[in-house]
Amino acid sequence: MPDAPGPWPLDAIAAEVAPWLTGFRAELLPSIDSTNSELMRRARTGCDGPTLLVAEAQTAGRGRLGRTWVSQDAGAPSPTGAQAVRRALTFSLGLALAPRDWTGLSLAVGVSVARSLHPDLQIKWPNDLWFDGRKLAGILIETASIGARRYLVVGVGINMLAPAARGLSVPAAWLGEVLPQCDAPQALLRIVPGLASAILLFELQGLAPFLPDFQARDLLRGRGVVLSDGVTGTAQGIDSGGGLLVHTPAGMKTITSAEVSVRPADDAPNPAWRNPPS
Ligand code: BTN
Repeated sequence: MPDAPGPWPLDAIAAEVAPWLTGFRAELLPSIDSTNSELMRRARTGCDGPTLLVAEAQTAGRGRLGRTWVSQDAGAPSPTGAQAVRRALTFSLGLALAPRDWTGLSLAVGVSVARSLHPDLQIKWPNDLWFDGRKLAGILIETASIGARRYLVVGVGINMLAPAARGLSVPAAWLGEVLPQCDAPQALLRIVPGLASAILLFELQGLAPFLPDFQARDLLRGRGVVLSDGVTGTAQGIDSGGGLLVHTPAGMKTITSAEVSVRPADDAPNPAWRNPPS
């Protein structure tokens, strides 16, 4: 029998974050459809305080571009939602935000999460985290209108189990490869305070403070890429607004839409660049 998974450090996170993010609350959900969906629902009903939701299990996890994010066995979770072994770390952080310009937020978030975990993590534009040529984590960013302001929801899913244990034919990366002693609660503690402060820094200063770190971690730079519309080219880094520069046969293209997916040409058609089941 594996050891029971460790407790979540929600009080420690709240103690660190609440002094500078007024009203911050951290909550554990044994099972929920999606931590992003739950925060979006709450925001629409007026619960728009800064909130961290951590899920032991998600039954309808969502990824970017309308994809699903699977983070538990196909079988039903236990009545409490608890798992003997955590297959993924899944959480969302929500807060009201009013930056002058939202451009580049998803890149800033990716940089913050990567920075909190390991210098060797790379970022595949706009914000997938990769290790050793494989996807380790995904980030889903959404916003809801709350009066004149917007409520930002940042959802993070990190693979915690080796591929064999997840039954994947195409391997994804998992956190133990990068940080062998780091379990899901420890990873959460490493990430959340830095993520909250990065979002507040972005609100004040935009993408600029995050650009050098993104450039240092840019997985696609100099690589052949294929866009979701079939256009091929070579990634040439990002511009000051976080747009992906791609040199194509028709000239330089700047990809700004999060609705465009990009994959390294040499990975085609390997599903590992898509959302792997975690
Ligand atoms: C992606 O790789 O496309 C993004 C995946 C984001 C998954 C996380 S898990 C916590 C939060 N809740 C969701 O439903 N999605 C995000």
